[in-house]
Amino acid sequence: MKRILLFGPPGCGKGTQADLIQKEFGFIKISTGDIIRQEIKNQSQIGKRVKSIIDAGELVSDDIIIELVKNRLNRGDIKNGYILDGFPRTIIQAERLSEIKVDEEIAVFINVEEDKLIRRLTSRLSCKKCGAVYNLNVNPPKKDGICDKCGGELYKRSDDNEETIKNRLKVYFDKTLPVINFYRAKGSLKEVDGFGDINDVYNRIKGLLE
Ligand code: AP5
Ligand code: MG
Repeated sequence: MKRILLFGPPGCGKGTQADLIQKEFGFIKISTGDIIRQEIKNQSQIGKRVKSIIDAGELVSDDIIIELVKNRLNRGDIKNGYILDGFPRTIIQAERLSEIKVDEEIAVFINVEEDKLIRRLTSRLSCKKCGAVYNLNVNPPKKDGICDKCGGELYKRSDDNEETIKNRLKVYFDKTLPVINFYRAKGSLKEVDGFGDINDVYNRIKGLLE
């Protein structure tokens, strides 16, 4: 069983690249952000508790996130491996993850300069139904407001406004950069340049996985 961890600042392309890896390698994409947005959409107990946290760009508590990841891993559909997009984001999450053993773990840091991120995030659209991600500048849908893949309605994430993005970046530097350094210190971190065409970035990542 292989585990791929995708790290990087908000908007670096974690979700986009996880989708491409899933499609080609068959590893299951697990995005904690997507799981939380689904909880909010379902208006579950957890969803109601975390809505304002997400909208402020803060991190959801470790206990809640770890529970959600464990539940997802126990669903029984993961055979070859899985990709974690957006987890772990704190040292506590990283420690808890290390208790779940796998044969091989590859941590990938997608590095993108800060000034590129705001532009990417303010022009992102996501599908309400299947979660597919688009970008009005580099990867627009074929029909305005409609998902190419499932025909679902496209929307702008409630945390994709400039104020919240700035806080997400701050939280990333404060809480998640230390996690990236933790994997770097272990010697298991691989870094790729996340700037350039989506497919070029994908080929760089693919080179690390093969
Ligand atoms: P999450 O959903 O994970 O948000 P994030 O980390 O801020 O990252 P994004 O999803 O915004 O960006 P991405 O890197 O996936 O980029 P994408 O591929 O979409 O988390 C949301 C919230 O949930 C957090 O703030 C927190 O509250 C909570 N949460 C989640 N996990 C948690 C955890 N572990 N612990 C605690 N709380 C947690 O690309 C962005 C845009 O750029 C798209 O439009 C895309 O089309 C475009 N794009 C992609 N690649 C390129 C490229 N190469 N060139 C140009 N444009 C590109
Ligand atoms: Mg994402």
